[in-house]
Amino acid sequence: MRGTRVEIRNAALAHNARRAKQLAGGADVFAMVKANGYGHGLVNAANAMLNQVDGLGVALLEEARQLRDAGIGAPILVAEGCFDQEEMIEARALSLELVVHSPWQVAMLLENPGTDRLWLKVNTGMNRLGLRPAIALQAAEQLAAVGMKPVGVMTHFACADDEQNERTTRQHMLAQEVADALGLPLSAANSAALIRYPNTRAKRVRPGIMLYGSSPFTWKSAAEIGLQVSHRFAARLIAINDIQPGESVGYGATWTAAQAGRVGVVAVGYGDGYPRHAPSGTPAAINGEPTVLVGRVSMDMLTIDLNGIDAHVGDEVELWGDVVDVDAVAKACGTISYELFCQITSRPERIIV
Ligand SMILES: Cc1ncc(COP(=O)(O)O)c(C=O)c1O
Repeated sequence: MRGTRVEIRNAALAHNARRAKQLAGGADVFAMVKANGYGHGLVNAANAMLNQVDGLGVALLEEARQLRDAGIGAPILVAEGCFDQEEMIEARALSLELVVHSPWQVAMLLENPGTDRLWLKVNTGMNRLGLRPAIALQAAEQLAAVGMKPVGVMTHFACADDEQNERTTRQHMLAQEVADALGLPLSAANSAALIRYPNTRAKRVRPGIMLYGSSPFTWKSAAEIGLQVSHRFAARLIAINDIQPGESVGYGATWTAAQAGRVGVVAVGYGDGYPRHAPSGTPAAINGEPTVLVGRVSMDMLTIDLNGIDAHVGDEVELWGDVVDVDAVAKACGTISYELFCQITSRPERIIV
């Protein structure tokens, strides 16, 4: 057996959800499980955290349907709302909470009234989804006139993870103004805001990444936030090569040995979802000992430095998890852990513990 696998730790998911609930200080916690539970399995992640949280958040109706089909009766928020009338009808049947983020969605609701759990999304500076405050107030009035008074106001922060940026305070203030004008509860905070801006917790928080054992900040680790590793990616060493000074390794010969040494070939590549753009120097670990990638990642393999390490074919290499912080790998690759978790393909074995 090739042995390339993702270990998903449900006890860690439950722990991280409890940590979010602790930090929420009385606010409802809706665990974001969209995009296949950030790579932890949609239904699996939902079930692992359900007892610790007040509801679940997905992006799409299909994701909500999968949760309902799995027998999950908890409140579910659909963050992109519905795309057409058929979805609207299904959303009502499934008792979903829908976000209304755009004028075309308001028009769709007005054409076919009846949805009673609407969260009005306000654009407070992210400039992605959401109605500008004045339009949001108008929309709330129009919806209320046909019996669909929204149940809450929602916004999403653009920079809550940025140490320097104070935009979050302004975004929060604008959203709170709309919520107050409508006499409705507010939901704004993602993981970063929940941890860093307790005053934005309001009625409901929507953490995602922290539940999956990763820090939303570049300047504070997951362990410092009290989170546990829930996603461990590992593979086996399948060959060891002695390398002479001046010899290079892998496609494009991007890494050349300065001295004689040993390079290990690991059975994982971008065909498994490991990022191809991970440069030489990206952290990994073998038998618990830290090392680094050397040379380019290929489809089925990557290569690591084995100098000074006692390693044998068949030994286990950790790509991220307990020894190798996923956030350090993300940083080396110029991306975020969200992407690393989401892009693992169906090829590695999933082991849920
Ligand atoms: C609307 C919304 N709320 C909450 C979240 C959770 O954010 P995070 O994973 O940064 O905590 C997301 C994720 O992108 C989102 O799109």
